[in-house]
Amino acid sequence: MKKPAILGGEPAFNRLIPITKPFCPSPKDIEKELSEIFSSGQITNGKYVKKLEEQICEYLGVPYAVCVSSCTLGLILTLKALEIKGKVVVPSFTFPATLNALIWNNIKPKLCECELDTFNINPVEVEKNIDEETKGIMGVHVYGTACNIEKLEEIAKKYNLMLIFDAAHGFGGKYKGKFLGNFGEAEVFSLSPTKTLVAGEGGVITTKNRDLAEKLRILRNYGDPGTNDFELIGLNSRMSELHAILGLYSIKRVEKEIERRNEIAQIYMENLKELPGISFQKIENFIKSTFKDFSIVIDEEEFGLKREELKISLERENIQIKRYFYPPVHRQKVYKKMFDGISLPVTEKISENVISLPIYFSLRDEEVKKICECIKKIYDYRKEIKEYLKNEKKN
Ligand SMILES: Cc1ncc(COP(=O)(O)O)c(C=O)c1O
Repeated sequence: MKKPAILGGEPAFNRLIPITKPFCPSPKDIEKELSEIFSSGQITNGKYVKKLEEQICEYLGVPYAVCVSSCTLGLILTLKALEIKGKVVVPSFTFPATLNALIWNNIKPKLCECELDTFNINPVEVEKNIDEETKGIMGVHVYGTACNIEKLEEIAKKYNLMLIFDAAHGFGGKYKGKFLGNFGEAEVFSLSPTKTLVAGEGGVITTKNRDLAEKLRILRNYGDPGTNDFELIGLNSRMSELHAILGLYSIKRVEKEIERRNEIAQIYMENLKELPGISFQKIENFIKSTFKDFSIVIDEEEFGLKREELKISLERENIQIKRYFYPPVHRQKVYKKMFDGISLPVTEKISENVISLPIYFSLRDEEVKKICECIKKIYDYRKEIKEYLKNEKKN
């Protein structure tokens, strides 16, 4: 057997396999739309954002969609529009933007454990974190796999709380046959380049609440309803026409994107399932994940190497990997003080052992299998790698 690259073997790939890669149109694919907006000068506040919103509504089967310049701003505006004050229960196993949106609204985040198997917010823990100041729950569909929505809805109803979803990863994902975007008071998607629906940068808020949608349209436009007589203290968080054109191109193929990601995830699972010490996110059969990310969790004792040792070994094979989400929010520099002394052992365990592997539309089956082969090879040479890294550290 060939040696792993870290022990002097040939790297498995002679060029870097990136962790992610957006599927971009060729300039010709969007030439007509671009030349139209360039010649008219209508590069923002035009018809394409509206068109994208209509297509998103149609695709997801949701009555209102409001496009914004990012998911982060979408979350900030949604919380502002809902006038949430007090505390919101939120997972720590998320991207810090989820928490940032709460802080920008002066809302106190109440950090909550996630589930060991699904990596999503744990409804049992949510309930334990509710007190008289709690006004909402913010779920995150981690990697595009829906949270336990029914249970969260039940809790929100029982305690009269707002339920909002950070659906940054979730465009095109489903829960019990329905697209994400149809749940809670509002869901907010990201349209940045690593996502399934890509607008370059961008976000979209979906809701069934007409008043909320209208308020969000005013808020994203500085607070101006279009009369120059400002009604609210808003932001400029509009999506430009250029981004909407990219989004319109992307929505035409988003289903294919998700199918391909699901195929890739299957290949990974099929090829890695027998390896000791590797586990996957649990996805119930009534959930369709977008596989915005494909992540594995390493059990050091069984796998024989630490997550960091596997990371370095894969990087030497020219495979880009990511530790996502790591550190968890309560261990991030900016949040450490705020959550001093908090213990979230499940979140920490996942975060300290998770590795996201490359996944994107144009990643070929052979490449996925080769990545799996590398992980197997690294496992087979685990003792030598440990030894090698120990000596490297000493020197
Ligand atoms: C869970 C989560 N929430 C929010 C965001 C922020 O999205 P955006 O970059 O569109 O602001 C991200 C970004 O990847 C994310 O992973």
